[in-house]
Amino acid sequence: MDVLITGGAGFIGTRLMERLSAEHVVVVDSLHPQVHGPDAKDPDLRDGWEFVRGNVTDPDVWDELFARFSPQVVIHLAAETGTGQSLLQASRHTDVNVNGTAVLLDALARAGIVPRSLILTSSRAVYGEGAWKDARTGEMFYAEPRLPANLESRVWDPTDRSGHSGTPLPHNAAFVVPRPSNVYAATKLAQEHILRSWCSAFGSNLSILRLQNVYGAGQALGNPYTGVLTFFATRALGGEPIELFEGGGIVRDFVHVSDVVEALVAAVNKEPEGGYRVVDIGSGEPGTLQNFAETLATEAGSSGTVVTDKFRPGDVRAAFADNSLARDDFGYEPRVSFAHGVRELLSWARGQSDRSA
Ligand code: UD1
Repeated sequence: MDVLITGGAGFIGTRLMERLSAEHVVVVDSLHPQVHGPDAKDPDLRDGWEFVRGNVTDPDVWDELFARFSPQVVIHLAAETGTGQSLLQASRHTDVNVNGTAVLLDALARAGIVPRSLILTSSRAVYGEGAWKDARTGEMFYAEPRLPANLESRVWDPTDRSGHSGTPLPHNAAFVVPRPSNVYAATKLAQEHILRSWCSAFGSNLSILRLQNVYGAGQALGNPYTGVLTFFATRALGGEPIELFEGGGIVRDFVHVSDVVEALVAAVNKEPEGGYRVVDIGSGEPGTLQNFAETLATEAGSSGTVVTDKFRPGDVRAAFADNSLARDDFGYEPRVSFAHGVRELLSWARGQSDRSA
């Protein structure tokens, strides 16, 4: 099997390559300085596998590659991922995530290559504030994006159009319609739509995995826009308190990178019925950021947490997955508990700071 992985030198791709049993893999990655630092070296790959340093938005990278390599499977991981950053750098996020996907597809078409299967790591961000259950009627409603004026008055929970709130419901692609509330999320949904259109027209299978908050050893510690748990780990190990925004009550679903990798491998190994699947990938253990941060701080032996009324534009209040579509489809079962995953993250982060000391 010949596999192309875009963004394969990143956090998820590096772990994925340890688990992939393909004869020929080509990894295309720009080694983005924000993630990999200013002097990034090409990653070491298995014998017979190949690394190409290049940007997904550069048609020459693809034309050169597809003249000599015809992937059966494309795993599209390359993306700009900063939620808050995307509001200030909308064009960069749109260029890489939306245009980059289209440039890749055009190059496949120019070369006459129709992969058997494409796999996209999408994000739970596409759901925006998601679906909630009305506290009075028990009915489901879609929460509106939260207004800065409400957040400044510490009204954290989103509401329906009449101002009623309730309790959040899990993300499930079969029932909950995506309604992005930041630019990054909008670009991920656009990727989904573009790939869906292209794959159905050309007859490629398409798997879309909407990932919840992915964490684990290996996520760039030096990236100021890194995943929030990696950021918390750095603070805790540096003896600084973890600041909890929005009164600490933000709900998240931290899924360990090795569970995400198992889901990707399963999606590669089992083609989607009817040529298309979209599934949610979470940990099965949602909770408040305050609970997660306290567990992390205790494990790190650090100075603990501070609850604040700060907030970030574009963030959503609650996000967690119903894993049932992925379980029923390809047997997805998350295996790494938060307690175990956070110990692994901290031990890796300690090792990194020892190395740089
Ligand atoms: C990550 C990913 C993003 C992905 C998203 C959901 C990266 C770089 N970003 O975003 O691509 O779509 O998860 O999978 O991997 N907060 C605090 N204290 C702080 C900092 C933040 O309480 O000091 C809060 C924020 O207000 C926010 C939450 O933590 O509500 C975390 O934000 P979220 O967007 O869920 O996670 P990221 O790790 O930023």
